[in-house]
Amino acid sequence: VHSVASRSSSSKHLLTRSFGTESVPERKVAVLGAAGGIGQPLALLMKLNPLVSQLALYDIAGTPGVAADVGHVNTRSEVTGYVGEDQLGKALEGSDVVIIPAGVPRKPGMTRDDLFNINAGIVKSLCTAIAKYCPNALVNMISNPVNSTVPIAAEVFKKAGTYDEKKLFGVTTLDVVRAKTFYAGKANAPVAEVNVPVIGGHAGITILPLFSQATPKANLSDETIVALTKRTQDGGTEVVEAKAGKGSATLSMAYAGALFADACLKGLNGVPDVVECSFVQSTVTELPFFASKVKLGKNGVESVLGLGHLSDFEKEGLEKLKPELKASIEKGIQFANKS
Ligand code: NAD
Ligand code: LMR
Repeated sequence: VHSVASRSSSSKHLLTRSFGTESVPERKVAVLGAAGGIGQPLALLMKLNPLVSQLALYDIAGTPGVAADVGHVNTRSEVTGYVGEDQLGKALEGSDVVIIPAGVPRKPGMTRDDLFNINAGIVKSLCTAIAKYCPNALVNMISNPVNSTVPIAAEVFKKAGTYDEKKLFGVTTLDVVRAKTFYAGKANAPVAEVNVPVIGGHAGITILPLFSQATPKANLSDETIVALTKRTQDGGTEVVEAKAGKGSATLSMAYAGALFADACLKGLNGVPDVVECSFVQSTVTELPFFASKVKLGKNGVESVLGLGHLSDFEKEGLEKLKPELKASIEKGIQFANKS
């Protein structure tokens, strides 16, 4: 534990303002894929987070430049760039949280599952290194298809003997971010006050926003709820089409990834009542992995919360999503075990 009051760097002022003389633990965060469309703004946002003391930026190319750039920002963390596989171990060593936005993004006309062939291998090799160099880190998986990459990570960790289901998270925060934005628009509510749980997975109909549980309450028509649900499910595709071949969501994803990592860090630091939706190992349904509200604590997942009351429309959506989500999970497990 590092005493903030004793720091002599220029970041002392900022930290003292935010935390008084309380001590803030040292926390290392590694971003794998840090030179990419998500990785760069995510690196910046993590540099702005006063809970981070060390920020390791890893990619197969380009990270020295990103690290030099982000490293000039006068906030608490020390930034180091790591490039190429032989530097991956150093990037990971001592990490408390590892965020993975490494891999190829969609182009118009593709599904997230079309990314499987390339990204499954990338995730597998990165997770093999995590098992070796920082087996106790919380892993925030952003690489698509999340519905399969999270099960791949679990299998890799199981094989290495390091699997802890409390420490593996599929990042579905962008679905929540979108649901909140779209709901606020229709409900005419201040967006900062809006909450909407999103359950299931992270692709098409497996994304199930629970607008019946949205707050503040609004009297929206069935038709509006159907449209909001569809827009949330197709949010990623909306961005992919608007970017017209130049990739998928990067800025909103960086924001969402930074929010989720911040929640993980708060949980690790013992902040009470930190709850976020995430795709985790779960017994909430018959599927082995499922996104729902999760309480975060000192060891990662403290508890996976239930789904609460669902409307008939949401119950129907839940049954519809199960076969696709099950197949994507099984595809990931099979991939990890065959190779
Ligand atoms: P990008 O192509 O801009 O960046 C990806 C980065 O990964 C590149 O810098 C590349 O060099 C790096 N990379 C490739 N192989 C690597 C390896 N073996 N080790 C380390 N780094 C490696 O793509 P992007 O727009 O940043 O998207 C990245 C991934 O995130 C995609 O799979 C995309 O589908 C996914 N994504 C997920 C969500 C979500 O909500 N979970 C949202 C948006 C995008
Ligand atoms: C998203 O939801 O924006 C991401 O999963 C990227 C994509 O391919 O849609």
